[in-house]
Amino acid sequence: MTTNRTFTMIKPDAVENGHTGAILEKITAAGFRIVALKKTQLSKADAETFYSVHNERPFFGELVEFMTRGPIIAAILEKDNAVNDFRTLIGSTNPADAAEGTIRKLYATSMGENAVHGSDSDENAAIEGAFHFSGREIF
Ligand code: RTP
Ligand code: MG
Repeated sequence: MTTNRTFTMIKPDAVENGHTGAILEKITAAGFRIVALKKTQLSKADAETFYSVHNERPFFGELVEFMTRGPIIAAILEKDNAVNDFRTLIGSTNPADAAEGTIRKLYATSMGENAVHGSDSDENAAIEGAFHFSGREIF
């Protein structure tokens, strides 16, 4: 298990709204090194698998619909304390509760369409990174 890596997606809302460059700039300015990066689009099956932990939740259908509606940016990021520091950088799930200067405060539009994903544990960071990238795409 890698303890200094996390996985992120810039979600379809932020890509559509032209925030990809600004968000990547904030990520690298905060000291994260990009070790893998791609633009891709999730299929319905991809999104259902990726967010399967939420499959009993009332918002699951809406979440899958949202996450598949356009391209995303997927990335693996490296930094000391990557998972926790990245969660701090992105802010609360609901942008209304997100701290000033966080990525969600700046770029999210709602609780559902909240601009970025960040892994919630080292274990999930490894699973999510492997879901999106093969070994020869990680540097
Ligand atoms: P993420 O996994 O995307 O980084 O977000 P998170 O940990 O902050 O939040 P989580 O509880 O894992 O929820 C995953 C995503 O589901 C959508 N959601 N919608 N409408 C709602 O009540 C609701 N709640 C969650 C959001 O896109 C959230 O990021
Ligand atoms: Mg989550």
